[in-house]
Amino acid sequence: MNFLDRLAIPESGEHLELLRYLLVIVTLIFIVYTGIVVVASTASAVFDWRGRKTGNKTYSMFAKDLADLAVTSRGVLLAIGVLPLITTILIYVQLLYGMKLEVSTYMTVAALFFFVGYYFLYSYKKSFHLDSIYSTFQNLASSSNANVRSDVATDVNSFERSAVASRIKNGRRSALLFWIGTWIFLGTTRLAFTPSRWAHPTLASVLFSGETIWSLIDFAIVALVITSAAILFFFFKFEHGIAINADDSYRKYVRSLVLPVGIAAAALEPIVLFFEIQNLPLTGVSNETFAVAGVAMFVALILVIMFYLMLKDSSINLGSYAFVGVVLMVLAWTAKDEVAFHYATRAQDQRLDERYAAMVASLGPNVAQPARSGEEIYNTVCSACHRFNIKLVGPPYFMTLPHFVGKMDSLENFISNPYQAVPGYPPMPKQPLKPQEVKNVAEYIMGQYLAAKKAGKAQYTQ
Ligand code: HEC
Repeated sequence: MNFLDRLAIPESGEHLELLRYLLVIVTLIFIVYTGIVVVASTASAVFDWRGRKTGNKTYSMFAKDLADLAVTSRGVLLAIGVLPLITTILIYVQLLYGMKLEVSTYMTVAALFFFVGYYFLYSYKKSFHLDSIYSTFQNLASSSNANVRSDVATDVNSFERSAVASRIKNGRRSALLFWIGTWIFLGTTRLAFTPSRWAHPTLASVLFSGETIWSLIDFAIVALVITSAAILFFFFKFEHGIAINADDSYRKYVRSLVLPVGIAAAALEPIVLFFEIQNLPLTGVSNETFAVAGVAMFVALILVIMFYLMLKDSSINLGSYAFVGVVLMVLAWTAKDEVAFHYATRAQDQRLDERYAAMVASLGPNVAQPARSGEEIYNTVCSACHRFNIKLVGPPYFMTLPHFVGKMDSLENFISNPYQAVPGYPPMPKQPLKPQEVKNVAEYIMGQYLAAKKAGKAQYTQ
């Protein structure tokens, strides 16, 4: 079912390199967003449940804000959720062209999990907003001077109950779908850079190989760091923040919850990353792998310090820097995978480059270049055998061109398909020229001849 393979063609080496840079950028966006979506949807479902169980409004508010963090609007969802994922798949299809690996199939399956998950997440988020409408109505209805018919109030109550029930389902569904999608996605990227598994790739090995499990654990840790920083940044800093109207006690609660999680996760990250690299296939490990992984570890430690300082000062003043740090860390983290992928598929790149050259060659001589001018062709091709006024291998043009005057068609015809014409000369070999070039060179030599004739300088020696 490598149906997406049809979209690809062999690419030149430079294009492949460009695609790899592009891949790092789209995966960066995808991983940052997925980190937020996975953790925020899971945590939101948990806090929603705790809020209902304990009646604690802070939990419910946090659950709602987390849902808002995961999906601000449909446009954002499309731009940083759907599009990067599709682009990533297409780049993989292109880079692995002709390898008969089911990478594009597995990735498409992962993408479907995400897309359905986004759908549930969006309805989940919407239902929180419905919720506030219901409770506003109930507050109004219960105030003594409101005149609300009792059957309307009952209706609203039952609507609310079913809305809450479907919200609980949607929240859990979306979190589950994201985790499964992420798992398949990470497993597939590991398959792509493990050549020893290419012969018999199975779904089980995609999901349960050591490198997949470690990368999933590492992703979970990274996702916690990303989401911690994202909460601090998007709740309180960015464009006034999701929770800008919240009171002080809510801020304090969020800070005291998020910062310790951020510290713990960022401190764990270097250790987990170390084990993840230990489990990388040998073909994927190079000095660059260690270098970029080192950068990721270093930034993680800086994040520990930033989170700690904010906890100590009971502030969120470093929130924006922490978020920038997170983006840097994830950049190094994705680059590590990309380097491994690059090393594992060097031979494949070489093959694609060769196939590209073969494909270009099969299209005819120099199709990739534009047609050359008549003068250039004369100087580089014809002048090996021809001059205007003297005999070389071929006859002088001043001798042969007079009988082509007014017969440019015949001249072009001769140049593209030479035949035995002038006695005492060997036949002229066919020259590899494009139709436009034949025309250009015919016009050029004829023009030179006519000008020379006009000036009375068209003499030649046999
Ligand atoms: C490898 C040597 C060689 C090259 C390169 C070559 N020619 Fe020739 N050309 C010849 C020879 C030999 C003849 C004589 C062939 C004959 O009369 O059978 C000839 C003949 C001609 C004639 C005379 C035909 C006639 O009917 O009088 C023209 C015009 C001509 N060439 C144009 C060109 C042009 C334009 C190019 C460059 C695109 C070119 N040639 C490149 C060897 C060459």
